[in-house]
Amino acid sequence: MDLKQYITIVPDFPKPGIMFKDITTLMDNGPAYKYATDQIVQYAREKQIDIVVGPEARGFIIGCPVAYALGVGFAPVRKEGKLPREVVRVEYGLEYGTDVLTMHKDAIKPGQRVLITDDLLATGGTMRATIDLVEQLGGVVAGLAFLIELTELGGRKKLEGYDILTLMQF
Ligand code: PRP
Repeated sequence: MDLKQYITIVPDFPKPGIMFKDITTLMDNGPAYKYATDQIVQYAREKQIDIVVGPEARGFIIGCPVAYALGVGFAPVRKEGKLPREVVRVEYGLEYGTDVLTMHKDAIKPGQRVLITDDLLATGGTMRATIDLVEQLGGVVAGLAFLIELTELGGRKKLEGYDILTLMQF
C-alpha cells in the first residue's frame, strides 16, 4: 500500500513556509491505519519487544495499537507536570527555548527491551530526549519506529547507533 496518498500536505501550517504533514487522514482510514500499524508490528516482532514507549500526543496514536497487537504494555512520555507519581525528566532544546519530557520512574524495568514510536522524525530532538528517559530507567532501546521522516532535517544523525524504521520519507 502506498501510504503517502493518505497524508495531507497543508501549506503554511502552523507558520508561513511550513508544509505540514497531516496524519489524521491516514488515521481516519481504517485499512491505511491498520496497514501502517501492521508494518510496525512486524518490525517489532523481530526485536523481542517487552514494552512500547511513545511521546505525547501523536506517539500514543502510533504506539498504542502496536502494543495491543504485540500483547505488551505501553508507557507514555509526557510534558512536565502531567504524570502523577515520581518521574525521571529530561530537558531538551527546541527552536526557541527548551522543553521538558518525563516518564514515571517505575514505567520500565532495567533490561526491558523497548520500542519507541512517534508519528514524525523531524530534527530528532523529541526522540533523542525519549531515548534518554528510557536509558535513565535502564531500558534497552531495541528499535525506533516512525510513520514519517523529514529527511532534510537530518534527525537520523541525532539517533546514530539505533535501529530505525520510517514508513514514509518526505
Ligand atoms: C511533533 C511530532 C514529534 C516531534 C518531532 O510533536 O509528533 O513528536 O514533533 O519533531 P522533532 O523530531 O523535531 O523533535 P509536537 O511537539 O508537535 O507534539 P504533539 O504530538 O503533542 O502535537
